[in-house]
Amino acid sequence: MNIAIIGSGYVGLVTGVCLAHIGHRVICVDNDPEKIKKLKKGIPTIYEPGLEALMHKCMKRRQLFFTGSIKEATKKATVIFIAVGTPSKKSGEADLTYVENVARAVAINMESYKLIVEKSTVPAATGKRIEHTVQLNLPKKYQGGKGRRLEFDVASNPEFLREGAAIEDFMHPDRIVIGVESKRAENILREIYKPLKTTMIVTNINSAELIKHASNSFLATKISFINSIAQICDRVGGDVLKVAEGMGYDKRIGRSFLNAGIGFGGSCFPKDVDAFIRLSEQSGYPFNLLKEVRNVNCEQREYFLKLIEDKLWIVKDKTIGVLGLSFKPNTDDMRNAPSVDIIKALQQEGAKIQAHDPQAMGQAKKIFSGVHFCQDAYGAAKGAHCLLILTEWDDFRHLKFTKIKQLMRQPLIFDGRNLYHDSHLEQYGFEYYGIGRIKV
Ligand code: UDX
Repeated sequence: MNIAIIGSGYVGLVTGVCLAHIGHRVICVDNDPEKIKKLKKGIPTIYEPGLEALMHKCMKRRQLFFTGSIKEATKKATVIFIAVGTPSKKSGEADLTYVENVARAVAINMESYKLIVEKSTVPAATGKRIEHTVQLNLPKKYQGGKGRRLEFDVASNPEFLREGAAIEDFMHPDRIVIGVESKRAENILREIYKPLKTTMIVTNINSAELIKHASNSFLATKISFINSIAQICDRVGGDVLKVAEGMGYDKRIGRSFLNAGIGFGGSCFPKDVDAFIRLSEQSGYPFNLLKEVRNVNCEQREYFLKLIEDKLWIVKDKTIGVLGLSFKPNTDDMRNAPSVDIIKALQQEGAKIQAHDPQAMGQAKKIFSGVHFCQDAYGAAKGAHCLLILTEWDDFRHLKFTKIKQLMRQPLIFDGRNLYHDSHLEQYGFEYYGIGRIKV
């Protein structure tokens, strides 16, 4: 199958590389010439485990190409995936400007049947708008009437890739969702995903769009729920790790996404929750439950800050070591990372921050000023009055705590990701605070 992916950001690039890997001929498009230059040289523009090797393999086999031209891609491909950004407007509503631009650009350059597939996360009913935009912008000679009618289909095929595990998620998905309005579109999408043996949910476009927003919102709800439980644990003397374990054995609940901490971040959950709240409001339903999910998430960061202020006492002029900056492990992505709010708030109070992250320091340098970036965890601990764990990187699980304690000015650890067992760290002589684990 000849496939074009428009937008070579995180979702677009991973999807493009993986579709090439399962046997399709893929051309990835982006309007950033620098990005395309790098990609053509085989240099990935994002960090994702396994992506570079797979990219090289597909390029060598001549199944993966890159271009800056939508015209070229539209000409070469039958199936066009739209994977451009859908950032949030001030109101929380998804900004679909890029999606509309791409739909228009594809329409203008169409010469034969195309299947246009939404990959970007979009609110329900976007499919209809794309269809309308394409129809309006087809070359005059193909607009029907006296001219020949050019056929096309629009479909929705939301992605469920987790950063850091995206290739594994693509190759072994829990399910593939396709929203279609014609048998032709359904058959093409079935053919594309034939090599992946999994359940395929076929529905209409609106339902497919809703599945994506509902899934991410539900997962965000699970996180805020366990974070609320953590709040109660801290007040009445419970251990949220045990509570989550006890709940998780119930198959109807499941243990995943019940990790309490400083809350969810990233490019998807915060944005999708906002957009879903907006969409619900616009449809006449105030989704209050989801509004509270968002509130709880904000409060977790504030709660962590309060804990630090309470135990450290005076923040001004204190040296604070930070381990982990990315919004979650195995990625260099800093978008909506809880570390951003937490570090900025501490800096505002006059703290000196020294931080280490295995992958995200390059990105973090663009966001923070006045942060001292360290080669490793020990550098971040050196001379610190306390150490904060903001991302649960595996690298931080097995540190030499005797060394850390010697390096620090005070043996005080605030673990925003519940990475450690309190008794373990207390053995080394640390004063240790996790989330939802305070013994009353
Ligand atoms: C998410 C969805 O999982 C994916 O299906 C969708 O396509 C894109 O959005 P991603 O943003 O990569 O993927 O990260 P994910 O692993 O889902 O974590 C999101 C955030 O929730 C992270 O900040 C993470 O630290 C936080 N989280 C996750 C928790 O705080 N607790 C948990 O138990 C799980």
